[in-house]
Amino acid sequence: MIKLTIDNHTIEVPTGTSVWKAAQSVGIEIPTMCYLEETGHFTSCMVCLVKDAHTGRLFASCSVPVSEGQNIITNDAETTESRKAALELLLSEHVGDCEAPCQLVCPAHMNIPLMNRLIAKGDFGKALEVVKRDIALPSILGRICPAPCEAGCRRKQVDEAVSICHLKMFVGDEDLKSDKPYLPKLAPLSGKKVAVIGAGPAGLAAAYYLQQKGHQSVIFDKNSQAGGELRLIGEDILPGSVIDQEVARIVATGVELRLDETIDAVRFSALQDEFDAVVVATGTLTDENPDFGLKTIKTGFVADKTSYLTSSPKVFAAGNSLRASKLAVRSVGQGKEVATVIGNYFKTSEVKGYPERFNSKFGRLAESEFIQYKKDSEDAPRQKSDAAGFSKEAAMIEAKRCMHCDCRNPESCVLRELSDRYQAIQKRFQGEERFNVERFIHREGIVYESNKCIKCGICVRLTREHQEEFGFTFIGRGFDVKIGVPFNESVQRGLKKTVAIVAKACPTGALAMFNAEENL
Ligand code: SF4
Ligand code: SF4
Ligand code: SF4
Ligand code: FES
Repeated sequence: MIKLTIDNHTIEVPTGTSVWKAAQSVGIEIPTMCYLEETGHFTSCMVCLVKDAHTGRLFASCSVPVSEGQNIITNDAETTESRKAALELLLSEHVGDCEAPCQLVCPAHMNIPLMNRLIAKGDFGKALEVVKRDIALPSILGRICPAPCEAGCRRKQVDEAVSICHLKMFVGDEDLKSDKPYLPKLAPLSGKKVAVIGAGPAGLAAAYYLQQKGHQSVIFDKNSQAGGELRLIGEDILPGSVIDQEVARIVATGVELRLDETIDAVRFSALQDEFDAVVVATGTLTDENPDFGLKTIKTGFVADKTSYLTSSPKVFAAGNSLRASKLAVRSVGQGKEVATVIGNYFKTSEVKGYPERFNSKFGRLAESEFIQYKKDSEDAPRQKSDAAGFSKEAAMIEAKRCMHCDCRNPESCVLRELSDRYQAIQKRFQGEERFNVERFIHREGIVYESNKCIKCGICVRLTREHQEEFGFTFIGRGFDVKIGVPFNESVQRGLKKTVAIVAKACPTGALAMFNAEENL
């Protein structure tokens, strides 16, 4: 047995145990990427670095065995900074988008490629579910949004942008026509109550998402109909019946709508006592607005940019009351975000900003790369839609034009998760040139994107262990080394027995199942 100290815990472990395993035995978590218990260490990623307190030397904990009297530090500033640098080196060569460019520019951050995949399969119900995770009012926005997402669509480089906005409207309208409207999963009531002032896009969205989290939401509006500034757009563009139907779907979640109720300064102060939080979503501020005693500037209420907290505790503001905007989707997105912030505040008693995730990005495709991205799309022209929107057939054709620029593994990618945790900066060690994108797609099996590979060798070791006929191997040398199947065999032949095993073990989205999202 060997006696050593890790972060001030003195422990004894069998000779030959790695420092990483010894730490794990006392509940100290050290990240890994290239290490897999089943196949052992490879010592290439360096995210498992720890420090020997006696010598000050940093080393890879996954591959170094413990030694008598060692004193290990796993979590000081130097180890944290070194892991961050190790991640930044991996990211410097990494060519991939965790989230598609369209999703990144959508102010509500809707998962557009996933919506498109589901529409393309004809699963309109699940597509609506995906849309409604971020956009509470898809049929309304489908009619009025100037579609900033389409301006960011990569398909525009090839021919024309995917008609994202009308696809979203299509799934929204399918639901409005249905006699079994979609009702999101509702958490049991928490006992917390939130007052939302204003039944415009921001207020409706905030109430919808708060209610789903189990927090009873009550919307107050001075008008006799919900919709706020949406009611001013005009029947020819946005029929009142569409607003009514989408509001009804929000009310169906249990949101209480109190119309014809004006909130003056006295009532506002009472609401702060009666409710656990208040969301001010009163629309563009004018001289007619009552003075709620909140700090304002020229554009509207003063609120933290990421938490929406105003100058008063428990009072949040969203939508045009912060800054007038013609983009209703921005207000809808802020409504969703403020609901998350308030939900977390109820859990932790702390107001924290809306969590922003790490996103690897590589920008524009080179013309020579179109072919790689077109592999996952169909070569149809942009489908035309009129005021009634798409037919089912046209919607499916349009959705199939999407090139699926997002990563197939954004939720379990260890590289993304650690880059988030260590606040890694992708550009820090990046050169001018990048590797070319390359996509291998097998619709019944795997997607392999070599430009997302960190050369951890896990797939090589696993295919060897499972005695694949061809398996994966390292091809080439030095800087240009790549992972591939020997003898120019296809990826399918390389992964005959192990396709699901390697997809699960790959720490990035380099190898992922094509239908990874099947069980949403
Ligand atoms: S492999 Fe990971 S880090 Fe890279 S694009 Fe995919 S999710 Fe993002
Ligand atoms: S092609 Fe699809 S995934 Fe790519 S940016 Fe356009 S809509 Fe988004
Ligand atoms: S493809 Fe293989 S070598 Fe590359 S990151 Fe995935 S498991 Fe590691
Ligand atoms: S070097 Fe230890 S996990 Fe990669």
